[in-house]
Amino acid sequence: MKYPIIAYGDPVLRKKATAIEPEEYPHIKELVENMFDTMYAAHGVGLAAPQVGMSMRLFVVDASVFSDDEPELKNFKKVFINATILEEEGEEWGFNEGCLSIPEIREDVYRKPTVRLSYYDENWKHYEETFKGLAARVIQHEYDHIEGKLFTDKLSPLRKRLIEKKLTEISKGMVDVDYKMKFPAVKKGR
Ligand code: NI
Repeated sequence: MKYPIIAYGDPVLRKKATAIEPEEYPHIKELVENMFDTMYAAHGVGLAAPQVGMSMRLFVVDASVFSDDEPELKNFKKVFINATILEEEGEEWGFNEGCLSIPEIREDVYRKPTVRLSYYDENWKHYEETFKGLAARVIQHEYDHIEGKLFTDKLSPLRKRLIEKKLTEISKGMVDVDYKMKFPAVKKGR
């Protein structure tokens, strides 16, 4: 099952998401499957629960599309539940990012190259793991979502001003996407 993706401007994207307990979500695997379905249908490499309207600390990632550049990313498909960043290090590097909630905007974003996280997978197995390069990049972007942050927050004041109008248009649904979205500034029943 696919969910509509929540567009820029919806308050759910700005909330710090809450940790979840196994007993609260006995059907977590179904939810995770639906998130992957939603992400693949939109040709994304990551999707966080707030982007489908659920303010919980869950995101999914499939970075295997980058395996041409980084062969170790072949089959890099992972689920992150209750993730916490333990450490980020290295010299920040720029990469052109996009976001399924902010279609048609891509900007260079600077992040540290290495990230260490504590997280659980969909079987509630706990990990402490270090990720580098593009895997770290995708994880950091998705992690920002569960903290209520978006990649556009990281842009310079000039870049922010240049995309301001486009962001308003996105929130109103004035955007051409080939996946289902929910726009905060579009009134119901219209
Ligand atoms: Ni995103």
